[in-house]
Amino acid sequence: MDYKKKVEKVRERAKSFYKGLDPSHDFQHCLRVKNTSLKLAESCGADKLILELSAYLHDIGRSLEEDDSSVCHAEWGAEKSKEILEESGFSEKVVERVSHCISSHRYSGGPEPKSIEAKVFSDADNLDALGAIGVSRVFSYGGSNGTPFKGDSSSLEHFEEKILELKDRMYTEKGLEMAEERTVFVERFLDRFNKEWDGKL
Ligand SMILES: [Fe+2]
Ligand SMILES: [Fe+2]
Repeated sequence: MDYKKKVEKVRERAKSFYKGLDPSHDFQHCLRVKNTSLKLAESCGADKLILELSAYLHDIGRSLEEDDSSVCHAEWGAEKSKEILEESGFSEKVVERVSHCISSHRYSGGPEPKSIEAKVFSDADNLDALGAIGVSRVFSYGGSNGTPFKGDSSSLEHFEEKILELKDRMYTEKGLEMAEERTVFVERFLDRFNKEWDGKL
């Protein structure tokens, strides 16, 4: 089987795991992370096949974690991905490299990304939480579980505690440059949001 068919097989299998998830973590998130990681790969020479496969598979454990918080979606997804990649005909080397990208992509906890692909991949996943897309995702996720816009345990608190800190967790030079630019957008959005909230605009 040529490699394009093998990639297609993985993509189709992965897609089924994202059904029913809100837009913050649906399969479109994977497609955006793929595009961003391929863009970052241009500036550092990371392997694009590893990044594409990781993008499709990295959050396949997400719905399991939503149902049972003791499941780590990165750890579970890394193991399940090995099975999917082997069944799709990928070599042991590819399986291990993708699995490392997935196990190390999680924002909180888990192993640190060691390979250049894992570093690029972590940056691309975090970049999807910034900028206009990042703002959309925070409110989509909040809306799916009844989170208030402002106040304790709110979407605005999430911006302050997590989203604005993401730029400090970038591993690549290009990733940092993009994160800084997208963070400025989020800060401008929050400033405007708070002014409207207080009736100042
Ligand atoms: Fe994830
Ligand atoms: Fe993700």
